[in-house]
Amino acid sequence: MRFDGKRAVVTGGASGIGKATALRLAQEGAEVWIGDVDETGGHALAAESGGRIRFHRTDVTEADDIRALIEAAGPIDVLVNNAGAGGARAPIDQIEPDDWDRTQILLLRSVALGIRYAAPVMGARGGGAIVNTASIAALQTGAAPTAYSVAKAGVLHLTHCAAADLARLKIRVNAVCPGFITTNIFTAALEMNGDARAQADAAIAQVAAGAQPIARAGSAEDAAAAVAYLASEDAAFVTGTHIVVDGGMTIGPRHSWDPRSPSLFGMLEKMVPNRP
Ligand SMILES: NC(=O)c1ccc[n+]([C@@H]2O[C@H](COP(=O)([O-])OP(=O)(O)OC[C@H]3O[C@@H](n4cnc5c(N)ncnc54)[C@H](O)[C@@H]3O)[C@@H](O)[C@H]2O)c1
Repeated sequence: MRFDGKRAVVTGGASGIGKATALRLAQEGAEVWIGDVDETGGHALAAESGGRIRFHRTDVTEADDIRALIEAAGPIDVLVNNAGAGGARAPIDQIEPDDWDRTQILLLRSVALGIRYAAPVMGARGGGAIVNTASIAALQTGAAPTAYSVAKAGVLHLTHCAAADLARLKIRVNAVCPGFITTNIFTAALEMNGDARAQADAAIAQVAAGAQPIARAGSAEDAAAAVAYLASEDAAFVTGTHIVVDGGMTIGPRHSWDPRSPSLFGMLEKMVPNRP
């Protein structure tokens, strides 16, 4: 019960990592406010939580919505800036200016403004903890489209800068970098529904288990556990850093952990005759 008597806000709390985080914080004693554009999912989670989770309709691309969410939640101890989507998919030589801006507003400005409005509230209470959902796409190319990856890299450095700025208010700021986590984000990005979505979900489940050294799909609960740690007093001396929750995906190239994947060294070894 690490969050007994604590109050938390989780954006994007109607689905995936945000939902698992809201449930985890509530299970550990917190009163949780979730902000999301998904009214059906948000109300459903609030109803099934037995009063521990409240829903406040929030579009994190709107500054006033973020401010209203924080105001509605009142004296908060924890903020999880998590809402997000895939963003613009075009490569950098084809992207439209407005699509670039929309992606940065959704994924990066929302986090900055969440911190902006929550920090004075937390500061007045004597401190708090902020956790931002970044991504392994913040660390390397190839995990997501360019606009998304750059926004998440921004989230990571914002985490560092905010941790430095807000230490004087006893507010810790950290991030999680999930790898491949099986949530709705992939089918939502492609606006898939019905049969197409069911087929895609089945394909995702199949691919997810073999996508990283730990041979099972990454779950929203895996990411939520790291968020809960960073938000809790267990991490009282931890600020300005991140936890990678990727089943080892970023430890090295695929051939370093998957014996079925060809490597230059493996190929050369086969060329050496009569090797003992
Ligand atoms: N799933 C992954 O593999 C993965 C990997 C790395 C990072 N992430 C990040 O994790 C976070 C959560 O994603 P998820 O995988 O749980 O996906 P998800 O689609 O299950 O959940 C995202 C939630 O954010 C909400 N949302 C989207 N736009 C919003 C807006 N403008 N205002 C308010 N809410 C909005 C959605 O309605 C949804 O409830 C995102 O920031 C995503 O970029 C996910």
